[in-house]
Amino acid sequence: MIAMHFHVVTLFPDLIQTYCSTSIIGRGVKAGHLAVNAYNPRDYCQDKYRKVDDTPYGGGAGMVLKPEPFYACFESIPREPDSPVLLMTPQGKPFKQADAQRLAGHSHVTLLCGHYEGFDERIRAVATEEISIGDFVLTGGELASLTIIDAVGRLVPGVLGASTSLDHESFNEGLLEGPQYTKPPEFRGMSVPEVLRGGNHAHITEWRRQQALIRTLERRPDLLQTAKLTEKDRKFLAKLKESL
Ligand SMILES: C[S@@+](CC[C@H](N)C(=O)[O-])C[C@H]1O[C@@H](n2cnc3c(N)ncnc32)[C@H](O)[C@@H]1O
Repeated sequence: MIAMHFHVVTLFPDLIQTYCSTSIIGRGVKAGHLAVNAYNPRDYCQDKYRKVDDTPYGGGAGMVLKPEPFYACFESIPREPDSPVLLMTPQGKPFKQADAQRLAGHSHVTLLCGHYEGFDERIRAVATEEISIGDFVLTGGELASLTIIDAVGRLVPGVLGASTSLDHESFNEGLLEGPQYTKPPEFRGMSVPEVLRGGNHAHITEWRRQQALIRTLERRPDLLQTAKLTEKDRKFLAKLKESL
């Protein structure tokens, strides 16, 4: 049974389908864990020119997406009632790993992609949330939607080969992941830390936790405010801060 259905409203369905038929997400689709369907508002236009945008009321540069084809397209989607509808916009709530985890608990997620100057304000009414993938402006919502599909899709059981790959990664428990190494043990004068080569799993686990704390303190100290920290973590961090 397909665990997650993504529905994407976009003027450029090929962009979505090309990405979602490749690599890990593509394998998840082929294996039947995910389904990604794209719907083009242009196919729902009633006029002979299939016009999806128009000039803004009040004047100004650029074109604005019209509500009628967008609504007709959205209403044709075979989605679960009450499932999340995400409108892509730089004005939305910043997307976080916690959102990816929350959305992975649903079986249908709909994503609405803007283009040109953006959406007619009345299109916002169909969204349950407005999402931004960062403080910058893209030409369209497709990359933002694909970012969300990728981040959510990889959390769906079966999509990543071994579920253990999710255990220690960045943002899990609110920390960044520590450094990773593979063979060879020595490369251009840089060596793999002795503890990782030793095979003592308790020492490796402790070393990885400490490296995650060091990396988070160095690069994203803001995350430590909300991270799940043990008493041992707090003591380690206190010592680390003293040594700086
Ligand atoms: C050129 S942008 C429109 C920007 C809009 N005029 C504004 O100032 O808010 C076109 C579309 O790209 C998408 N987009 C651009 N930047 C984005 C971001 N940071 N996060 C999510 N979607 C974004 C949205 O769907 C948006 O409607």
